[in-house]
Amino acid sequence: MGGTGLRRLLFDFGSDTIRMTVDGSRIRKAQEPAVVAHQDGGGIIAVGTAAQRMLGRGPEGLTAERPFSGGGVRSQKLAQALVRTMIARMPRSRWQRPEIVVALASGATALDRRAFVLLAREAGAARVAFAQLAACRALGLDLPLFQPCGSLIIDVGASQTQVDLMSLGRTVVSATLPEGGDALDEAIARRLRESYSIMIGPTTAKTLKHDLLGEGMSDAVLHGRDLLSGLPRALRVDRKEIEAPAHLLAEHIVSTVQELLRDVSPELVSDVAERGIVLTGGGARLRALQQHLPEALGLPVRFDQAPEESIVAGLERLFEPRVRDQLLRRGA
Ligand SMILES: Nc1ncnc2c1ncn2[C@@H]1O[C@H](COP(=O)(O)OP(=O)(O)OP(=O)(O)O)[C@@H](O)[C@H]1O
Ligand SMILES: [Mg+2]
Repeated sequence: MGGTGLRRLLFDFGSDTIRMTVDGSRIRKAQEPAVVAHQDGGGIIAVGTAAQRMLGRGPEGLTAERPFSGGGVRSQKLAQALVRTMIARMPRSRWQRPEIVVALASGATALDRRAFVLLAREAGAARVAFAQLAACRALGLDLPLFQPCGSLIIDVGASQTQVDLMSLGRTVVSATLPEGGDALDEAIARRLRESYSIMIGPTTAKTLKHDLLGEGMSDAVLHGRDLLSGLPRALRVDRKEIEAPAHLLAEHIVSTVQELLRDVSPELVSDVAERGIVLTGGGARLRALQQHLPEALGLPVRFDQAPEESIVAGLERLFEPRVRDQLLRRGA
């Protein structure tokens, strides 16, 4: 791409991770943990990976926070710091002021839209546009989005689980469960506190979840604080001891899907029966979901190699002519 003309930065603002890609060049991609560390009532200390390391490790008065949640902006100021930093890291020489495209969840309010427009403008965008997030995800997963054919997608993110039945380029029905990877981390930490009187931080809980429930390791050693003595303590944890919250999430997803399918036409249900369900988002890596969902729903369930990237993969296809007309809306 030359030195003139508008460059496009396309964003999936996840509550756990922000993913960005530059239109036209498949090489330039970036992702950052969606965390900002700041002094209480004061300045920003660190963003992204550096801030994530500070989670639970700061001195009094330092807070590490996530600026996005459930598809919306929670803190304009913190979100701003993160987005600016990500854009500033992109090679600059050829930069014009970019167009920023945001994958916007269907549940987003006018206020959410406004917050994203403001965010993009303050980060230096010349123009802002929105793309329907659910449609981007379906495109990124290579589903026949524009065909008269039902595709059922379950995205297990950090803050929530989103279930969408898509056909003819749109969401036909959808449901949002306010549970995802974060809820599992909290449940794991709570269980260990109750069973072993040991307190662990959010990063330790997350690592444990990845190793035992995602990668399938049978046990792992963690370090935490003994609640009685107040001293550091090591503990070996078996997978079985922390599996229950993941099974509970699977059950909640199953009942959400059952309820959703109850209200849709027999044609769409038969598409789903034939083609199965696609499981995506970082939570798709949970073995409990991969194993339990096909059994409980009696449907084939597909999951991909890089499940957290389906939305950016769809954003990258947004400017194919047929796709652009159907999915892009100018924001400001
Ligand atoms: N190997 C793994 N095993 C289990 N969980 C995993 C694994 N890898 C990532 N996750 C979890 O997936 C979640 C992040 O997924 P994703 O990146 O799709 O979320 P997000 O898009 O940032 O959040 P949201 O969509 O809720 O705003 C986190 O809770 C993370 O711990
Ligand atoms: Mg997400």
